[in-house]
Amino acid sequence: MGASDNMMTGFANHFATQAVPGALPVGCNSPQRVPFGLYAEQLSGTAFTAPRAENRRSWLYRLRPTAQHGAYRPWQGAGQFRSAPFTDLPPSPNRLRWNPLPIPTDPTDFLDGLVTYCGNGDVAAGVGQGVHLYACNHSMHDRAFFNADGEMLIVPQEGAIRMITELGRFDVAPLQIALIPRGLRFRVELLEPTARGYVCENYGAAFRLPDLGPIGSNGLANPRDFETPVAWFEDVDAPVDLIQKFQGQLWSTRLPHSPFDVVAWHGNLAPCRYDLRRFNTINTVSYDHPDPSIFTVLTSPSDTPGTANCDFVIFPPRWMVAEDTFRPPWFHRNVMSEFMGLITGAYDAKAGGFAPGGASLHNQMASHGPDRASYEAGIIAALAPHKIEATMAFMFESRLPFSPTSFAAQAPFAQPDYDQCWDGFRKAQLPTDKDAA
Ligand SMILES: [Fe+2]
Repeated sequence: MGASDNMMTGFANHFATQAVPGALPVGCNSPQRVPFGLYAEQLSGTAFTAPRAENRRSWLYRLRPTAQHGAYRPWQGAGQFRSAPFTDLPPSPNRLRWNPLPIPTDPTDFLDGLVTYCGNGDVAAGVGQGVHLYACNHSMHDRAFFNADGEMLIVPQEGAIRMITELGRFDVAPLQIALIPRGLRFRVELLEPTARGYVCENYGAAFRLPDLGPIGSNGLANPRDFETPVAWFEDVDAPVDLIQKFQGQLWSTRLPHSPFDVVAWHGNLAPCRYDLRRFNTINTVSYDHPDPSIFTVLTSPSDTPGTANCDFVIFPPRWMVAEDTFRPPWFHRNVMSEFMGLITGAYDAKAGGFAPGGASLHNQMASHGPDRASYEAGIIAALAPHKIEATMAFMFESRLPFSPTSFAAQAPFAQPDYDQCWDGFRKAQLPTDKDAA
């Protein structure tokens, strides 16, 4: 049986699960004596006093308390895993695009293979996000990680991975995503020789489903399609390096045992998986495009209503039926900033240059839109119903501009000629006086 077979459904439901019958206390969180001598520990993902609808926490029942550890010491691995505030380079108004991140040839696990492209905000203020890619060819061995700075939205692009977490294990393949709560320990195992993908490290309010407004009570990402693993643990007494990201720095301590020793748990703070193919895509059936917010899977709100710290938006397969409409994405300047990636297929605003595993960045007020080839095709296309097939692009959209790292800006796989995809548009021809006469 694979790790994926036993999942509980619903987004941020109040789950209860035990890997050993009788391990989960019933009717209370912290009995005087927990069954089997397990240790009860609460993991708080929101302030105790967060409103009930926002409140996220789980109770864990484990072989040993996590408090039993020695001092963390600075850790020098994962040298391209960076954090806000991003001060490598001055923020640039330029549009940036990258070819796919190369797969390493040296032995590299998920943590070693994390490279930061850009980010915004400030971890200490709990605002903004880091945008990373990973490319790896080894499972994490004798090593576990947790992120005190934010939750991690993992978007595999190539190669299925297995997430081993404190609260259970599950597999995630391209076209699925994983959401790992802040502070939750995990390791990543490869199910194929190599793996590559994207990560949004969200320093802000936890991702949640967007409100649906007039759409009604169903649609977009439906809550029941989010899956959370049942309790699973390993009773392994062998050394493990536990690495954490804390205020932008990496720290490590050595445990004499596996940290994945939670025998039972209950609560609504838990990792989950979602299959992007289950997204209920909504689009126009008359004319014009809805704004791409209609494709929002998850949102991390800011303190300003409707103005996200981060929206996770996808561009899935869908029918295009709009009449008398320029169907590719329109030209755009945006107060929000847009980082895009491509999981598979092609994106309908770009005829070339934006490959699966690649990325682009259009910061606040940067002009962007279809390249010339896509525009030329769009204005003459027959407007019969047409299905955009076998594609999945996505966007991390933020109220804060993204600052690239020097690694990303100077990478040999960056595209210094990206601007040229908008070269050569012909000037519009107004009627002359002679035409009018
Ligand atoms: Fe845009």
